[in-house]
Amino acid sequence: MELANVRSLTITGGRNKYGRAEDQTLTCRAGDITCIVGPTGSGKSRFLADIESLAQGDTVTGRRVLINGSPVDPSVVRATGQKLVAQLSQQMNFIVDLSAEEFLMLHAESRISPDPDGIVRAILAAANDLSGEKFTGNVSVTQLSGGQSRALMIADTALLSPSPIVLIDEIENAGVDRRRALELLVQKEKITFIATHDPVLALMGSRRLWFRDGGIAGIIVPDENERESAAYVREIDEQWARWRETIRTGGLLHAGPDPDLHHTD
Ligand SMILES: Nc1ncnc2c1ncn2[C@@H]1O[C@H](COP(=O)(O)OP(=O)(O)OP(=O)(O)O)[C@@H](O)[C@H]1O
Ligand SMILES: [Mg+2]
Repeated sequence: MELANVRSLTITGGRNKYGRAEDQTLTCRAGDITCIVGPTGSGKSRFLADIESLAQGDTVTGRRVLINGSPVDPSVVRATGQKLVAQLSQQMNFIVDLSAEEFLMLHAESRISPDPDGIVRAILAAANDLSGEKFTGNVSVTQLSGGQSRALMIADTALLSPSPIVLIDEIENAGVDRRRALELLVQKEKITFIATHDPVLALMGSRRLWFRDGGIAGIIVPDENERESAAYVREIDEQWARWRETIRTGGLLHAGPDPDLHHTD
């Protein structure tokens, strides 16, 4: 299967943690952003894992994944050496001790990039743009902070991954500019899923799946009111980001309902 030919992804309903049928069949097309919300333990990461493994009724949930309306054989996909699904997971562990530049260069070469030097520079620049704390290409990936390694993996996925399906499990790390990260990741032609507890990200999708007890409990489509609310929520979030920045750069906060508090020194 050619990656460029992936036009839609369908997930047929399985069962929740109590064995109840998940009465939903969901089809997502290139360009769709689907958000996944629900309490901790409700099955969001499990749902992403079903997509990642191209489940065929063979996981704990019984879900099936169809590409362009047809079942896929994961072993056939693997045999092509292509990666249908790129995943940014909740856990991030580097098991190699390479510099950031060496790590990216290996990846660029394995992707047979026509300009590996150029792409490595572009990824480092994008990662630094997303990360609160700057870092150079010489630093070992094992020495990066949580936010820095997250930013590096996001930039790497965005700029080097040809996969038509992108799965994102949480980017709430406060060391990363989440909205910019999402904009970078979500190129128009990708089929994107984001599991999140963050309202700003949850409101960026064209619909969201609400999870409960390991199954999809509802599919929520934003209405006009919610789109307006989303703009307000983003403003508040930007205010939070300014407060966070003041505190982490050693400043004193002057914020509150009293207008006298709103001056900056
Ligand atoms: N339909 C299901 N049937 C059986 N087990 C399930 C089902 N869905 C999820 N689980 C299991 O429930 C546990 C919690 O699920 P999961 O890790 O997906 O939660 P989550 O929503 O991602 O939580 P968090 O917000 O904390 O990341 C996992 O062990 C998962 O395998
Ligand atoms: Mg999870």
